[in-house]
Amino acid sequence: MNLKRNLSQQVEQALKAAGAQNSPAIIRQSGKPEYGHYQANGIMGAAKKLGKNPRELAQQTLKTLVDNIGDSATFEIAGPGFINVTFSKKFITDCLTEMSNDKRLGVIAQSRQKVVVDYSSPNLAKEMHIGHLRSTAIGDANVRIMEFLGHHVIRANHVGDWGAQFGSLLAYMDKLESEGKPLATELKDLEVFYQRASEMFKTEANFAKKAREFVVRLQSGDEKCLELWKRFISESIKHCQAIYDLLDISLSTTDVKPESAYNGELNDIIILLEAAGLIELSDGAKCVFLPEFVGKDDEPLPAIIQKSDGGFPYIATDLAAVQFRAQKLAAHRAIYFVDGRQSLHFAQLFAIARAAGFIAEDQEFRHVPFGSILNKDGKPYKTREGGAVKLATVAEEAINRAKSLISDKNAQLSDAEKEKIARVVGIGAIKYAELSKNRTTDYIFDWDTMLSFEGNTAPYLQYAYTRIVSIFRHASITLEPAGGHFDLDEPTELALALKLLQYPEAVENVTEDFQANILCNYLFELAGLFSAFYENCPVLKADESKRSSRLKLCGLSGRVLQHGLGLLGISTVEQM
Ligand code: ARG
Repeated sequence: MNLKRNLSQQVEQALKAAGAQNSPAIIRQSGKPEYGHYQANGIMGAAKKLGKNPRELAQQTLKTLVDNIGDSATFEIAGPGFINVTFSKKFITDCLTEMSNDKRLGVIAQSRQKVVVDYSSPNLAKEMHIGHLRSTAIGDANVRIMEFLGHHVIRANHVGDWGAQFGSLLAYMDKLESEGKPLATELKDLEVFYQRASEMFKTEANFAKKAREFVVRLQSGDEKCLELWKRFISESIKHCQAIYDLLDISLSTTDVKPESAYNGELNDIIILLEAAGLIELSDGAKCVFLPEFVGKDDEPLPAIIQKSDGGFPYIATDLAAVQFRAQKLAAHRAIYFVDGRQSLHFAQLFAIARAAGFIAEDQEFRHVPFGSILNKDGKPYKTREGGAVKLATVAEEAINRAKSLISDKNAQLSDAEKEKIARVVGIGAIKYAELSKNRTTDYIFDWDTMLSFEGNTAPYLQYAYTRIVSIFRHASITLEPAGGHFDLDEPTELALALKLLQYPEAVENVTEDFQANILCNYLFELAGLFSAFYENCPVLKADESKRSSRLKLCGLSGRVLQHGLGLLGISTVEQM
C-alpha cells in the first residue's frame, strides 16, 4: 500500500466534502517522525480558490478525516493551514504485518502499459566506452522498475550499425582477408582492430579511397560487402553482450534492433512526409522546417531527412523507428534514455513524427536526458592519452579495486569468495554511482567515493545487508517472515517501521520522472535508520517478547534493501 497516495486521496475527499472540488492535497513527508512523517499542504490553495479562511477549511477537512480514518491516525492543524498527520501505532503495525507477508513488499502492480525503452544503443563502429555507462545503467534500472510495476516493457537496443564509419572497418577486413589473415582472430581484440583501421584511413590515401568505396558498396547492397559487414556486426554485438553480462544488465541479443533494420522503410518515410506536406527542398536535400525550431538570428532550423547525395542521416532512421514503435508495436509510451546533447534531435524527431501523424495523441514519446561523466578536474573523463575509457576496462578496474578492499576488510575469506564478492561490490559501485545522482547533471567519476563503505554508495548498502544477514545467521533462521507479530515501542523502531512502509512510494516515484536516485536515497536513509535502531535496540539479546518483533523488523529491512538494490540492477552477497 502506498501510504502517501492513500492519505492524499483521503484529504482530497475531505476537501471535496468541504466544497473544494479538484484541489490537490499536496502531501509532504514532514521529516519529523513524531508526526508520522506527513503533512497536508494543499489546504491553503484550496481555501484561496474558495475565498475561505484557510484555518477554517483545515478545521472542516480535519473533521471529515477524523470521521473517516480517525482510527488509523490523529490530525493536528499547524501553521496557517497545514494538517499534520500522525499514524497510530496500531495502524503502522497492521500495515507492516501486511507488507511483511507480501512477496511484493507492498508495491502494487499498476495498470499494464506497453512501454518501449530505448537504452544503451551504442554505435558498433567503436568499442563501448564509459560514456555508455549512463544510458545503460540508468535505462536498465528504470526498465526493471517498470517491469516490476507491471508494465509490458520492450527493451530496444537501437545500435548504430550503418553509415560512413563502417567504410574503413570493412576496407580493413578486406585487406586482412586478402593477406590471408584469419578474421576471427583479428576481430578478437576489437579495440586494436578499430585503431588500426582508423590509423590506416588517416595515413594511407589508397586505403581511405577504398573505405569510401566500401560505404557506397554497402549501401547499394553489394553481397561481398554485406557478408563482411555482418561478420563484423555480429562480433561487435558479442562484445557488447559480454559487457552487459559482466555489468549484470538485463539486455540480451534479442533486444537488439539495429539502425540497419529500418533501411527498407526509409524511402516510405520520405513519401509519407511528402504526402503530409512536410518536405521542402533545400540545396538538394529533403528537409522539414517546423516553426518551433529556429536557430541563430531567428533563421528557421531544418531537419535534414535525406541528404542531397541520397543518403539518410540519423534522424531518418529514428523516424522509421518511431513509426514502428507507435504503429506496429502500438506502444502506449516510448522512453529514450539518451545523452542530453541529443535533446534537439529528439525534440525535432518527435515533433516531425507527430506532424506526420506517426504518433497518436494519447501516445507518449519522451527523451530522458542525462549529463556527462567528468573527472575530478571537472573535464570529460578520458584516458591519459585523451581517448575514451573502455567500459570493459572500467568494469575490470572496479572489480580489482573492490577485491583489494574486500581482502583488507575480511582477510579470512577464500579466494573464490573474494572474487565473487568483488564482482558484486565493484559492479554495484559503478552502477550505483550513476544511479544515485540526479541524472540531469554532470557527475564526477571518482573511484574512492563510489567504493567507500561510508556514505550513499553501493558498498555501504551491500554491507548493511550483510550485517542483517549475519544477525540471522547467528540466530540460525532466515529473513523470510515466520509468524510472530510486530511490537513497536522505541522511537527508533517506529522511525524504521515508517520508513519501511514508504518503500512502495519510493519505487513508484522513480518512474514519475525516471529518477532512480529517489530509490537510492530511500535505501540510504533506510540503512541509516536501521543502524540507529540496531544501536539502540538489542535484538538477539532482547527479551523473548521483543526478540521476535525485532527480528521481524530486521528481516523486513534486509528484504527491502535486497529488493530495492535488485530493482536498481545491483546484487547483494551474504558476507563481505
Ligand atoms: N547510437 C546513438 C549514439 O551512440 C544513440 C542512439 C539512441 N537511440 C535513438 N533511437 N536515437 O549516440
